Amino acid sequence: MPERINVNGILSPPETATISPIDRGFLYGDSVYETLRTYGGRPFLLREHLDRLRRSATQLGIPYDLATVEIDREVERTLSDASLPEAAVRVVLSRGAGPIGYDPEGCGPPTVVVYVRPCPVIPETWLREGVDVAIVRVTRNARSALDPAIKSSNLLNNFLAWREAHGLAAYEPILLNDRERLAEGASSNLFLVRANRLLTPPLSEGLLEGITRGLVLDLARSDGIETSEETLQADDLRHADEAFLTSTLKGVLPIRRCDGWPIRHGRPGPITRRVLASFEQRVQAVTKTGSAPGSILR
Ligand code: PDD
Repeated sequence: MPERINVNGILSPPETATISPIDRGFLYGDSVYETLRTYGGRPFLLREHLDRLRRSATQLGIPYDLATVEIDREVERTLSDASLPEAAVRVVLSRGAGPIGYDPEGCGPPTVVVYVRPCPVIPETWLREGVDVAIVRVTRNARSALDPAIKSSNLLNNFLAWREAHGLAAYEPILLNDRERLAEGASSNLFLVRANRLLTPPLSEGLLEGITRGLVLDLARSDGIETSEETLQADDLRHADEAFLTSTLKGVLPIRRCDGWPIRHGRPGPITRRVLASFEQRVQAVTKTGSAPGSILR
């Protein structure tokens, strides 16, 4: 059985893993999470993911340091127990079990879940031809309501957007923010190219500070591509010269059509291909040298 779940240090197959029904993660979505993956069997950018997990926990006041297990150690243990060629890892940190009511007094300790499964494979044709996206009517949570920078497991906003896009036969929904500007995908960040410049919405538009987004900005800059984090409208995407999504599990994924509009005649353009090539090179370098996880960005 390749899938393994680790709950507070106890390893088991998913069918037998248990958490309490009064865990606040289950009752209120009162938990934070990370999705990371391995390349060459090693967790990729583990440090960056765990730093973001800690930041998300701090923003919700979930006491990261009171977890009864060391999260990085449990990630390594679960990965070696599953022994997969390449794995996707979901790390969840919830406030833990406690009395019903919003007062967190008496809750805890925090529950740590590490879920390891085979890494989903992005089909070659998606990389060559791109995927279709739709700008959906569901808007991204306002920063003043539930800041999208917090990677919380309270994912109904993302799910409702996904459901709308699915009904439109689009692979990924693109969400606007409450000011009708481009924010991000339901599980990805968004880039577009206009007049040879690589553009992405700034964090102030209300989006997750994606780890792949950060890496892509670094790679593009060191490749001499002009980049800018700037406010963008829906039509900027529909009429972009090129566009792509980034995420841990999608990598760099070209967009072929937005709302049915072909982007650059429906073929990934030259800047997208350059970014994709640099990203793949970086991954290959880590895979071959087995360099320490987290060393790729700096
Ligand atoms: N999703 N924006 C949102 C809303 C996301 O959920 C994600 C990641 C990203 C990209 O972030 P990163 O490059 O750090 O993966 C942006 C993960 C993969 C998930 O939900 O499983």
